[in-house]
Amino acid sequence: MVTNKESITELIQTKVRIRRAKEEDLQEVVRLAMELGRDESVRDSMISASPSGFQNPEWILKNIKGGNAAVFVAELDGRIVGYSLGWISQPWAYKGKRGYICDCFVEKSYRGKGIGRMLVNQILEWFISNGVECVEADVYSDNIRSLKLFKSLGFKEIFKRLRFMVKDRENQL
Ligand SMILES: CC(C)(COP(=O)(O)OP(=O)(O)OC[C@H]1O[C@@H](n2cnc3c(N)ncnc32)[C@H](O)[C@@H]1OP(=O)(O)O)[C@@H](O)C(=O)NCCC(=O)NCCS
Repeated sequence: MVTNKESITELIQTKVRIRRAKEEDLQEVVRLAMELGRDESVRDSMISASPSGFQNPEWILKNIKGGNAAVFVAELDGRIVGYSLGWISQPWAYKGKRGYICDCFVEKSYRGKGIGRMLVNQILEWFISNGVECVEADVYSDNIRSLKLFKSLGFKEIFKRLRFMVKDRENQL
């Protein structure tokens, strides 16, 4: 019988299957994308709690269908508990192709069990096999868990985005 946290994590990892999302998974990926959007609206006062283009089923389906984009899902006992979504492009001024991880999300009760790492690893492999020169992701500075995850996989911080909130200045006047 499984008794400690490590064994439970190991057991879950052996049962989790990371695979490319199929069109039939769309509804589940949209559900998780909605949760991710809600999480971000709590973390960031500039992000609306209402669904945006990032949760739009048509946009997600376009990414599932592939081409320069890919969506991976984590399936556990027939249930989708996480996903990663990204695409390949060559942004202005870049010397080569870049993989961009737009979303990586694991349902709350399944976090801390290695599923996020598996999802990022899988999309990384896909980017590499498709000839990118680098892979990037935007992570909020206070998202310690996500920063730890990416850094432990070899990602390095290259950028800091600063924000000036106009309402803060008005409050000071
Ligand atoms: C970020 C996220 C995808 C990570 O998924 P996860 O399944 O919990 O991550 P893992 O269990 O694979 O852990 C990977 C690493 O994250 C770090 N980590 C995991 N749980 C942590 C915790 N409670 N506190 C701090 N770091 C933690 C560790 O470095 C861990 O590696 P280790 O176990 O070898 O030390 C998940 O927390 C999530 O969905 N968060 C909300 C959405 C989000 O912030 N997405 C990222 C930006 S798109």
